[in-house]
Amino acid sequence: MNTHTAIFDRWIRKGFVEINSELEKLYWQQADKANVEGIGETLKEQLALEGNALIINLLAEGNTDEGFDSAFDLLGNVGLFMAACRRHEITEPSRESASPLVEASALAMHIGASIGVTPRFATAHLTTHNKAVNGIYKRFTDLADEKLFIDYNTQGILAYKRASDALLKIVPLGISHPLCGELLKVVKHALIDVIESNNALYEQLDTERFFNCVRPYYKPYRVGKEIYRGANAGDFAGINVIDMLLGVCSANEPSYSQMLVDKFLYMMPEDQQILREAMRIQSFMDDFLQAQHYKNTDWFKSHATLFIQVCKLHGDTAIGHHNQLVEKFIAQPSKNMQEQHMSKVTASGPPLHVLLDSLEKLRDRRACAKRADIQTRFDDLNTLKQWV
Ligand code: HEM
Repeated sequence: MNTHTAIFDRWIRKGFVEINSELEKLYWQQADKANVEGIGETLKEQLALEGNALIINLLAEGNTDEGFDSAFDLLGNVGLFMAACRRHEITEPSRESASPLVEASALAMHIGASIGVTPRFATAHLTTHNKAVNGIYKRFTDLADEKLFIDYNTQGILAYKRASDALLKIVPLGISHPLCGELLKVVKHALIDVIESNNALYEQLDTERFFNCVRPYYKPYRVGKEIYRGANAGDFAGINVIDMLLGVCSANEPSYSQMLVDKFLYMMPEDQQILREAMRIQSFMDDFLQAQHYKNTDWFKSHATLFIQVCKLHGDTAIGHHNQLVEKFIAQPSKNMQEQHMSKVTASGPPLHVLLDSLEKLRDRRACAKRADIQTRFDDLNTLKQWV
């Protein structure tokens, strides 16, 4: 790490966290905890001044070409700073036509375009690609609930990745290969891990803290002229690899392909590559259906049984995400929120009911639920169940 990059990194890990944490204390003392206007103005000025001064040095240095990892890491640091400015309303996308953080925008766009990702901080920066120093990884604040949220997000993402890695290993072997069953068992365990991790998050996270002091750092913000949607735990390829390889979602279905197109640049380039490949592979659901003539063989019965169990577990992860996490930590507290703050609730920007409706459809596709208005694999999964 060169000197300017290292100094900025140290600030992000210390001074930056201290200022955000102080501001959170002040907001939290108010009757209307969602208000940030007119609160802690000196601290906000300090945040903008210190961050901008460090970024100006980095921008002047230009592209030092220290490789992908260090460029991605620096983009994350600039992004954390810009997201915090958005959270404290030092910037506000609906108020401005371009980000007032001119230098930070220029640096973020330079790096993002050169490595093939969005010029904002992404989920990977805080979860799977967040280097800990002496046990402490980068965060916005020192709040225990933020740590809890990131820990369980990381755990969930890693478990989904284990499931998708195992599914991808079945592709070159085929569903009748003797080891297909072993790999499906790995997928089952990984999905159980996702469910357990999400249950723990559901039990332990404090709703008011999350909604008022953690979630606001994940709002959309402007980089240059463009508004980039907030980061969410779904910005990795694994979840969609599972959807498409199982066959519960399909890349040629308009709303699903729209979601894929929208998320590509929010993922690490290696994940973008995996997702592209997965979009071209026939699903295991179709493989099993096409293997009807083998339905009385031992391999078909045991592998299809495991496959059905995997589909059930994948559906259960989606049901837990929607009915527990989204409901408890977003939908419910939004209902209690004062009208003036409502437009700022979701990370991706659309009104809450639109977001909830699309997440509900995704849940029902993953759960192969029977729905009259959208296509799901309800009937196909039942056919398989009858065969085994
Ligand atoms: C997306 C809420 C934790 C996986 C979303 C979205 C919301 C949300 C509202 C829609 C995007 C947006 O905000 O604009 C929450 C809440 C959580 C939580 C309130 C906990 C407090 C997790 C965890 C995982 C996860 C631990 C596991 C990896 C996903 C995925 C998506 C997503 C995969 C993308 C949409 C999809 O493919 O389902 N989440 N989430 N979330 N989240 Fe979570």
